[in-house]
Amino acid sequence: MEKLEMLYEGKAKKVFKTSESGKCWIEYKDDATAFNGEKKGKIAGKGTMNNEISAIFLSLLKEKGVNNHFVQRISGTEQIVLQVEIIPIEVVVRNIAAGSLAKRLGWEEGKELPQAIVEYYYKNDELGDPIINNDHIALLGLTSESDLTKIRNQALKINKILQEFLKMKDLILVDFKLEFGKTLEGEIILADEISPDTCRFWDASTKEKLDKDRFRRDLGNVKEAYQEILRRIGGTVGV
Ligand code: TMP
Ligand code: ASP
Repeated sequence: MEKLEMLYEGKAKKVFKTSESGKCWIEYKDDATAFNGEKKGKIAGKGTMNNEISAIFLSLLKEKGVNNHFVQRISGTEQIVLQVEIIPIEVVVRNIAAGSLAKRLGWEEGKELPQAIVEYYYKNDELGDPIINNDHIALLGLTSESDLTKIRNQALKINKILQEFLKMKDLILVDFKLEFGKTLEGEIILADEISPDTCRFWDASTKEKLDKDRFRRDLGNVKEAYQEILRRIGGTVGV
């Protein structure tokens, strides 16, 4: 398979076309941004770590019957994925109040929610990814009601699988963001990274933050937190 022209460059990844139809080539970058790109930086080795962390989570999900875009990891920072048309909705699942939920509701961070909740954000950088509901999604024609139900159910299933796996590694899955896409065959699948960039992971006993909040909030030891996640989920820490 050959890497062809770049299709898209995001804040943390580049996506390339390939010589094989239906497959894309992704390159994970060390660049880190927060607050809709207002804060910019680099985390040395993040590309390599997120590539491996994502590969581990996406393979686990596949094993558990959740189809997703992951095909194979091909180098330190690169992986092959299925080509999809991304549905412009950021799906956030939360188990514990943190970040924007804690702010919106005036709750303290760390409060356990009685059950997982799902939120939708409109993936639109110009608007700063505003929160939206089912009616807004219908109004904007982002996806059909039945596809949205499928997305919600998949997101909750992914939450259960990841929570259970991470519990065994002494980690709490606080919340995370997912994106879904439609394959050329019309199937809706998870088509996103799963990494400390897009999830909140806390150490189960100390509640130490082991994710991008260390970068967002200038807590220090950002790279070390990503390395710790990789170590706990059984990856190599050769960065
Ligand atoms: P939030 O509390 O800031 O809304 O974030 C919820 C989760 O979504 C958190 O795990 C971080 C992740 N997230 C992204 O992956 N990308 C984003 O642009 C934002 C705002 C959050
Ligand atoms: N990735 C997001 C951005 O830069 C924000 C975040 O993850 O906090 O916009």
